[in-house]
Amino acid sequence: MKEFVLRARKAKTDAGINLDQLPKEGKMDSVCASISNALWISGDVRKDTIIHVVLEGPTSGPKTISFFGNEIKGLRHDERSIATYIVDALKRSACLQLNEENHVRAGIKISKKSFERLLWELSQKHTQAGKKRQVLVLDKDGKDIRGVALDKDVVVVFGSPEGLPPKTENFFKEIKAEKVSIGPNMLFAAHCPIIIHNELDRRGL
Ligand SMILES: C[S@@+](CC[C@H](N)C(=O)[O-])C[C@H]1O[C@@H](n2cnc3c(N)ncnc32)[C@H](O)[C@@H]1O
Repeated sequence: MKEFVLRARKAKTDAGINLDQLPKEGKMDSVCASISNALWISGDVRKDTIIHVVLEGPTSGPKTISFFGNEIKGLRHDERSIATYIVDALKRSACLQLNEENHVRAGIKISKKSFERLLWELSQKHTQAGKKRQVLVLDKDGKDIRGVALDKDVVVVFGSPEGLPPKTENFFKEIKAEKVSIGPNMLFAAHCPIIIHNELDRRGL
């Protein structure tokens, strides 16, 4: 399973998101494009992929919305449609207590879970072969991905336009995450899932 985790530090968490102004809603356009690029290929959905977006903006962050490629049916992949699913999810999260979750629709759930808690849980899962899962943190100054052995069962963490906060460094060390670069230029968050999938596809993983 390929699992992406996007930490969206300013993305709004109240359901009053203006669908006509997604960039002004804590860069919600970037969140929606990242979801689309992680899950959809031409004419199909990647069934072996999950993306979790951790929204940390006002007014009730953190909220984690998870999209499961193997369960999604009949969803559209344009940014505006994905934003409507996010609004729907946020409406169903008003009463959630810490770490509780709600089903939203086939292939989408929402939880009141922090980035660190989510990532810690994912990093503790084992692969089918009984190995600890590989956790990659995307960082322009990390090791070139082309020299890194990749697992088919991988967790990939990346930041929103605000980047990943430096204070998470110690946490990444604790869970033995590897910092990996996907190229010499600083890319948009939404580019990251496509490049990672391409690396995995080319290696037959
Ligand atoms: C738009 S960038 C963030 C830019 C932000 N100003 C910063 O300095 O972190 C969004 C995220 O994409 C990922 N990213 C962008 N370019 C990358 C690269 N060349 N290699 C690895 N990760 C990259 C990182 O996870 C980054 O946090």
